[in-house]
This record gives sequence, structure tokens and C-alpha cells, in this order.
Amino acid sequence: MAPRSRQACIALDELDPLAPRRPLFDLPPGVIYLDGNSLGALTHAAERRVQQTLRAEWGADLIKSWNTHDWIEFPARLGARIAPLLGAAPDEVTVCDSTSVNLFKIAAAAARMRGQRHRIVSERGNFPTDPYLLQGLTALVPGLELVCVDRDRLAQAIDEHTFLVVLTHVHYATAEMFDLAAVTAQVQAKGARILWDLSHSVGAVPLDLAAARADFAVGCTYKYLNGGPGAPAFMYVRRDLQADLQPVLSGWLGHARPFDFVDEYLPATGMARHRCGTPPILAFAALEGALSVFEGLDMAELRAKSLALMELFVEIVESFGQDFCIALASPRDAAQRGSHVSFAHPDGYSLMQQLIARGIIGDFRAPNLLRFGFTPLYLRYVDVWDAAQGLREELERWRKFGPAAVVRQSVT
Ligand SMILES: Cc1ncc(COP(=O)(O)O)c(C=O)c1O
Repeated sequence: MAPRSRQACIALDELDPLAPRRPLFDLPPGVIYLDGNSLGALTHAAERRVQQTLRAEWGADLIKSWNTHDWIEFPARLGARIAPLLGAAPDEVTVCDSTSVNLFKIAAAAARMRGQRHRIVSERGNFPTDPYLLQGLTALVPGLELVCVDRDRLAQAIDEHTFLVVLTHVHYATAEMFDLAAVTAQVQAKGARILWDLSHSVGAVPLDLAAARADFAVGCTYKYLNGGPGAPAFMYVRRDLQADLQPVLSGWLGHARPFDFVDEYLPATGMARHRCGTPPILAFAALEGALSVFEGLDMAELRAKSLALMELFVEIVESFGQDFCIALASPRDAAQRGSHVSFAHPDGYSLMQQLIARGIIGDFRAPNLLRFGFTPLYLRYVDVWDAAQGLREELERWRKFGPAAVVRQSVT
């Protein structure tokens, strides 16, 4: 059961085995940050690593740094660092481009090995970049078809015509989580392959791609991995599929010997073939620094705290929710969620703006969701308690005076 008082929360924080990780973050004073599921917080290690790259590498060693500081192998090095968080082997993961681009790269490459099958299946209401890119792919390749259905109709939609299923493991809006192993097995039983979008999963929930024998995965590193705004994304391809997956974006750095400068494209072996052009080294440096906060971390411990933080928040908000038209829009069973929760409210946007103005930062997702992310590495129980009380005060103000007049900004 969740703690019943602010004092009980403080007592829990004193016992929290993850408490020593909070000082690794550079958190602004007076802010309760509940948006690490969208943009992770700055770590001191990321700042130091970027400074080092700027001064000691770029500044001092200039172009020699590609060799002397091994910039050229950043994609593989960071892939190997992220692999344990995915339950994958180091040579099955690389870091490059964005999640959007990597999703397209894998789906397009999978289309080249589809045989007689022509259909991609995805979920209706998925994070929009996934279906948008798949629409782009089907427009490009004659005969390909994209079918998006509601979650409860997925099993029927996957048939002998399907070569690829693209799903987001933890839903960006509701946080509802698929059973990764069970769905992977269902898809493969139909002779299709699965591409998981793990953007809201990595660094938030324990993952075991190897045990599930998942085919492909992509995901963001700027959310729970705290890599920084626009940090390069990761990409996973199961080892036995790597040789057959021919890149469509066959850029020079994915060539077997890029510095031979020959006319004919010859893909590198393994994940290196999915490199495309010159990578953003400063962004890689930030991510490398940020990943150090995960060293020696027990993901089961992190998950346990995430569940406890979410339960605390949901219990408090549900205790007054009915009085203020606010309703949980995520599964009530925490085990079926990732690490965020959403609440629906008719004036969700203005309410969230009011919360942000008082230093309680979450975000809003159309049409009516207030979204709160719970990042156990730097959030305390007392923060969650205070955030829930702050929400209650804003709801009381809303009931008394109506929605605050706020101008809708371009990023919500
Ligand atoms: C599930 C999911 N996939 C993809 C993305 C976006 O990826 P990109 O970094 O390419 O913008 C997001 C962004 O929030 C997301 O939630």
C-alpha cells in the first residue's frame, strides 16, 4: 500500500536504495520533473563528457580524434553499452540516426526480404511517426500494404500475407505495455517478423529481447536514458538476421571499407552496415556520459520503485479525482504499464500549463491527456506526494474559476 502522509514518503526516501543516484543529475531547484519519459534530465557525467569532447578532443586533437579518440566506433561502443538494458548481445545493437529513421531503415530492409508476403501490420493509435513512416514506405514500394487495427484485433490481422508487425511496447499516451515475449511468439508463429519500438521502455522497464527472440527493435535515448535533446537512437537486429538485412539507406559509413572510396556499395558485416552518414559526435558524447548513471543498476530494483511511485500518485489522485472530472487513462494494474501514467481531463492543456508554471513539469497529449513520467533514478517519494497535492490545488482552482486562459504552444 502507498504511504499515507508526506512524512511517510520522506521515511521511504531515506531507505531508498536508488537515492545515491539522484545527485548524479543536475536538477533545477524547486522543480518536480515528471517528464523524463519525454526528455530525460541532464546528468553531470553528460556535461563533463561533452566538455571533454569539445576541449580535449575536437579542440586539441581536431580531425585526428576520429582515430585517437575512436570517434568512428562510437555507434558500436554505445550500442554495446545499451545492449544490457535491452537484454541483447553487444554486437546486436548500434546507435545512429533517429528512431524515426531507424524504424524506416529496418522496415524497408525487411521489405526486401519479404518473399511473397506484402503486408505490414501495426496498431491504430500508435505513436504517429511509426505509421507515418510506414505509409511513406508503402507509397514507395509498389504492392506493399499497411494495415493498422485496434490492439484487440491484432491477432486476427496478422496472417500469411504479413511479413512485418510494428508495435510500440509501451504506448506513448496510455503507457499500456504489451507482453513482449508473448506477442513476439504470436507474430513469429504466423511466419512474420516483429519490429518493436522501445522508446518508452528502455531504461524504464526490464527487457529481455534475447529470451523473446525478438527480430528487430528501435528506440529513443533522450527519454529514460537521458541522452539529451535529439540524442541518436538505438537499433537492434537479432544476430542471425543481420547478414540478410540489406540496408536501403546504403551510406558510405555503412560500407565494408569506407576509406577505400570505391564506386560499388558493399555492406559492412553486422550492425555496422546500418550506419549511414557522419554521426553527431557531440550528441554521442552526451549519451555516453549519461549512460554511466545506469552502471551497476539492478533493473528489477528500478522497476519496483517505478511501480511504487506510480501507485502512490494514482492512489492520491484517484482519492479526489471524481470531484474534479479527472480520470485515469492508463491501465489500473501497474504491472500492465510502463513508467508513466496519464489522466484525462476536459481542460487538460491549461491544467498542465498551470502545473508547469508552479514547477511541476509533466506534459499534455491531445486530445485531453495529462501525462506524468516516473523516473526512479532521480524522483523521490516526497516529490510524487507534492506533485499530487499540487495537482489537487490546481484542480480546486479550476473548479472555482474555470480553465486558465493559456495560449497553446507548438510543443505540448
Ligand atoms: C514511441 C515513439 N517512437 C518514436 C518517437 C520519436 O522518435 P524521433 O526521435 O525520431 O522523433 C517517439 C517520441 O516521443 C515515441 O514516443
